[in-house]
Amino acid sequence: MSTRTLIRGGLVITAADETHADVLIEDGRIAALAAHGSEQAASWTADRIIDATDKYVIPGGVDAHTHMELPFGGTFASDTFETGTRAAAWGGTTTIVDFAVQSQGRSLREGLDAWYAKADGQCAIDYAFHMILSDVNDGTLKEMDRLVEEGITSFKLFMAYPGVFYSDDGQILRAMQRAAGNGGLIMMHAENGIAIDVLVEQALQRGETDPRYHGEVRKVLLEAEATHRAIQLARVAGAPLYVVHVSAEEAVAELAAARDKGLPVFGETCPQYLFLSTDNLAEPDFAGAKYVCSTPLRPREHQAALWRGLRTDDLQVVSTDHCPFCFVGQKELGRGDFSKIPNGLPGVENRMDLLHQAVVDGHISRRRWIDIACAAPARMFGLYGKKGTLAPGADADVVIYDPTAEQTLSAETHHMNVDYSASEGKRVRGQVETVLSRGEVVVDQRKFTGLAGHGVYTPRGTCQYLND
Ligand code: URP
Ligand code: ZN
Ligand code: ZN
Repeated sequence: MSTRTLIRGGLVITAADETHADVLIEDGRIAALAAHGSEQAASWTADRIIDATDKYVIPGGVDAHTHMELPFGGTFASDTFETGTRAAAWGGTTTIVDFAVQSQGRSLREGLDAWYAKADGQCAIDYAFHMILSDVNDGTLKEMDRLVEEGITSFKLFMAYPGVFYSDDGQILRAMQRAAGNGGLIMMHAENGIAIDVLVEQALQRGETDPRYHGEVRKVLLEAEATHRAIQLARVAGAPLYVVHVSAEEAVAELAAARDKGLPVFGETCPQYLFLSTDNLAEPDFAGAKYVCSTPLRPREHQAALWRGLRTDDLQVVSTDHCPFCFVGQKELGRGDFSKIPNGLPGVENRMDLLHQAVVDGHISRRRWIDIACAAPARMFGLYGKKGTLAPGADADVVIYDPTAEQTLSAETHHMNVDYSASEGKRVRGQVETVLSRGEVVVDQRKFTGLAGHGVYTPRGTCQYLND
């Protein structure tokens, strides 16, 4: 039987428009939009009516960078697909793109199948995968082609973490050449890991073991150098490039220079780089470990360049790089040696709210908020049209957002499976009220009504910035 839902009276915001419109949903998709009060909207009947008066009606968020259950530093990221996608829904994100991991010496297929199995039947919202390549060889290069056909159209490579995920320049060039041929998008963790490891060893020899030294050894120049090198390698290969978790002003400058030349180079930053800084890494009693991630947090002065990059489109996407480790028992693995602190921060639940706060603070416009959090990540990773917008035919992934509600972010109230919040005590204006995923209400006026297993695996097309 066909079910119809009508969302009435809200301000519909997409990356392109802001209009007072009613939204009709039928069988899990947006059926139509019409001006509020128009004859057409008044004629609509529905099984369920959601009153959105004084609220925003926005597309569900697309978080294109998460790591549920990632094995890292001798432990695993603490959110499972079940807990992590539930938390995402609470925060108004209705699609995640997580990273399947190829273990060294194993095939991409094996890694991908393990990720399908972990997520299957667990997710509250829709999900897709990128593939981490940790071993570029003839076999894995061939497998890339098959993955692109299967809907895994992006591949993360690491210039950092020697001995774990690291690829050398030759391997990177080969993977880029392959992507140039098969339509894949190379995502780059751009830090010079070989040089960083020397600095880590030297710091530890000097007895510099606290979390703040994580930020000191992972130098801005080594992010900028790697970003520059990745861009040049992509040029040589004739491949597009997406640089993940950009944190430094100098790295943004590399991206801007490449884009000014018309190169297909894209960049992502994350809320932690926009709102946190090395001050957090320096918090006493090992509390700085809560903020250890790579690329690292930077001195506060870098934030202006990141905001500017988001406004000028030198950076296109804000993802979370959600990779939570509990302080007790996980971050603590690095007491006495910062290099043993598992790298990663929680954030999948807070992204939409923090970026709304950026609207309140005047960093970005409302439409840019929706662009960087919904539309651009969908377009970047071949999901746009289905995800990332509110238009006839799109999946009815919709958030009713209260722009005037005030809330305090805290581990006491969040839903992520982690014992601290990276934004503990931060007051923000705006809150998710109701969330629909393919037409099903998964958060109803701040009550979770979703189900593990409602979310479906969503194969992706290739990057739509290159096709259109
Ligand atoms: O610190 C981070 N970013 N952890 C997750 C792995 C990665 O490099 O994205
Ligand atoms: Zn990374
Ligand atoms: Zn990551």
